[in-house]
Amino acid sequence: MKPGKGLMKRDFISLKDFSSGEISNLLSLAKQLKSNPRHGCDFLKGKSVALIFQKPSNRTRVSFETGIFQLGGNAIYLAPDDISLGKREPTADIAKTLSRYVDGIVARVFSHHDLLDLAKYATVPVINALSNLSHPCQVLADILTVQEKFGKLKGIKFAYIGDGNNMTNSLLMAGAKTGMAISVATPKGYEPDRGYVKAAEDAAKTTGAKIVLTHDPREAVKGAQVIYTDTWVSMGQEDEKTQRLKDFEGYQIDEKLASIADKNYIFMHCLPAHRGQEVTADVIDGPHSVIFDEAENRLHAQKAVMIYLHTFKHQ
Ligand code: CP
Ligand code: NVA
Repeated sequence: MKPGKGLMKRDFISLKDFSSGEISNLLSLAKQLKSNPRHGCDFLKGKSVALIFQKPSNRTRVSFETGIFQLGGNAIYLAPDDISLGKREPTADIAKTLSRYVDGIVARVFSHHDLLDLAKYATVPVINALSNLSHPCQVLADILTVQEKFGKLKGIKFAYIGDGNNMTNSLLMAGAKTGMAISVATPKGYEPDRGYVKAAEDAAKTTGAKIVLTHDPREAVKGAQVIYTDTWVSMGQEDEKTQRLKDFEGYQIDEKLASIADKNYIFMHCLPAHRGQEVTADVIDGPHSVIFDEAENRLHAQKAVMIYLHTFKHQ
């Protein structure tokens, strides 16, 4: 994905860095790629992309490797112990070294700072494959899914219930940039990142999006067209599990809570899911659930991101 001569490189670190128009273009490109899997099939011909993973992954790893293959490129998976990001050598040296070999870097990290460092020192585009702060690739696939199901994003009431984590931060940004009415219900002490809330509120001023933060799941879910939840224990928080399961009592998505949503609501979850914790099996495996459409859309959305970063021309 090395940008052409004279072009400024662009990274995909946060949806904050992309305008509403750019997000809309990414969604259109993803749709085009989905309807014609051969589209862009030579795009990464002769190019390699490094996939740095500090954490486990099913969807992200497999959809990136498959997407890169479908675009004619070569994916190099680097497991947590392979390059030992931040331990074996400075992140700057890793970024500069990889830039001499590959045309793009996809990274799943613990600390968002590592991602910023990779982007700062790499001369090739860097894509955020999840950090403690955000998960924009997942959310691009999610809003593609919402658009497919309802034919629009603007005005959709989107309820997120649970932990104010990396998913929540990115969903807030996406909702704000696309004019959704996004309601987030978390227990006290588990609210989303303040910086993301502020950025989302600023974006909402121009798009007409509505942002509501509450501690009441019923307030968030009432009349919602989308109900979204995520794990209560994110990767890296395993030692907080007992406390978290206690603190999140009352935030489970079950049939009773879902019954106050719009009658045509869709249930979404980025996965991996924990039936009996954040969601009951009858909801996640029921007729409103679109979880595998979301998972599929990772592939199309990420192919769109790779093409977009490569062809971006600095204005
Ligand atoms: N949703 C998601 O990112 O899944 P993985 O952790 O399996 O990649
Ligand atoms: N919040 C979760 C998302 C997994 C895709 C985590 O960070 O583990």
